Amino acid sequence: MGDKRVQRHVLVTGGAGYIGSHVARLLIESGYDVTVIDLLREKGGTGNRWALPKGANFVHGDCGDPARLEELFGKPSSSSGRAGSAPREEKFDAVLHFAAFILVDESVREPARYYENNVVSSLRLFEAATLAGVPHIVFSSTAATYGEATSELIAEDSLQRPVNPYGASKLMVERMLSDLTTATATNFVGLRYFNPAGAHRSLEIGQARPSASHLVNVAAETAAGLRTKVMIFGDDYDTDDGTCLRDYIHIEDLAAAHLHALKYLEGGGASDFFNVGYGRPYSVREVIDSMKKVSGVDFPVETAPRRSGDPARLAANPEKIQRVLGWKPEHNSLDTICRSHFQWEKKRREEKL
Ligand SMILES: NC(=O)c1ccc[n+]([C@@H]2O[C@H](COP(=O)([O-])OP(=O)(O)OC[C@H]3O[C@@H](n4cnc5c(N)ncnc54)[C@H](O)[C@@H]3O)[C@@H](O)[C@H]2O)c1
Repeated sequence: MGDKRVQRHVLVTGGAGYIGSHVARLLIESGYDVTVIDLLREKGGTGNRWALPKGANFVHGDCGDPARLEELFGKPSSSSGRAGSAPREEKFDAVLHFAAFILVDESVREPARYYENNVVSSLRLFEAATLAGVPHIVFSSTAATYGEATSELIAEDSLQRPVNPYGASKLMVERMLSDLTTATATNFVGLRYFNPAGAHRSLEIGQARPSASHLVNVAAETAAGLRTKVMIFGDDYDTDDGTCLRDYIHIEDLAAAHLHALKYLEGGGASDFFNVGYGRPYSVREVIDSMKKVSGVDFPVETAPRRSGDPARLAANPEKIQRVLGWKPEHNSLDTICRSHFQWEKKRREEKL
């Protein structure tokens, strides 16, 4: 036998979106063959063709569409249909599933769309992947599955009681993933992200979705002149300055967590869920102050009533991901995150991305 290395092939759903595009790029840089499936701007999709990494194969479509799934994974054999039957030809070594709708306020207004796209599509995707014998799945979950924090730093075994349909949809997928993979040889990691922000160091990719509502994004867009003001939704929470606390994590650290998760699974790691955060929450006002400082722009800020479905405080206990996956943050500073996001928004404005 020669020492020819077999290149591993992974499917990245939602790889034209913010987080998926960063992870897809890192996977290609790390020697993986990557196929991305994404809706781009069809059917409520938020992906950008320019965000696709060089060298990725691209399938334009819905990752919950049975016809697309058959193209990707092959036709289920007549005798199969249930886990435990002989796997078909294994085309993918892993599926990393990012594709979803992600806005909390939208999910409160349009819950059915969220359950359809986040839960039903994931079920179809995971069923196709497990029946095809895909060995590993990495799933994008969220701190929103916890709902209101029951402790200062939330550990993975904390109570999960989501307070909005977005978080509920993700919790349902966590449960489905556990059940579907228990009956098969597939192992999985579910990563519960806290608040991703910032952009790739090259400034070639970053967050660029319509009607973004995440705070760092909104503040950076405002500092870059893409919006007129930042709204604070609620300043009467039971926190030091009355505004909500969140655990912000730099997108490059988040992308690295996926690579650690995949290596862990490839090494035979047991299926599990991990928080991805730094464990140091910042208030809305602290983020605004940091953005003003790093951008040098004193933009207008207004206060409005609370939004429904916003917990007062969410911060990760990151001990488990550091211990088990060996993940170590490299960009753990609010100013670094805000600067990175601001530089990206300035570029986005100049290049009209
Ligand atoms: N951004 C955050 O703050 C955050 C926090 C926690 C968890 N997450 C999770 O991370 C994942 C990625 O989020 P993001 O911030 O990159 O969002 P995004 O909107 O930038 O990217 C989502 C991508 O998925 C695509 N997509 C959606 N539904 C699809 C479908 N059915 N088929 C194919 N493509 C589809 C969209 O077109 C888009 O490109 C999501 O699962 C989200 O729930 C995000």
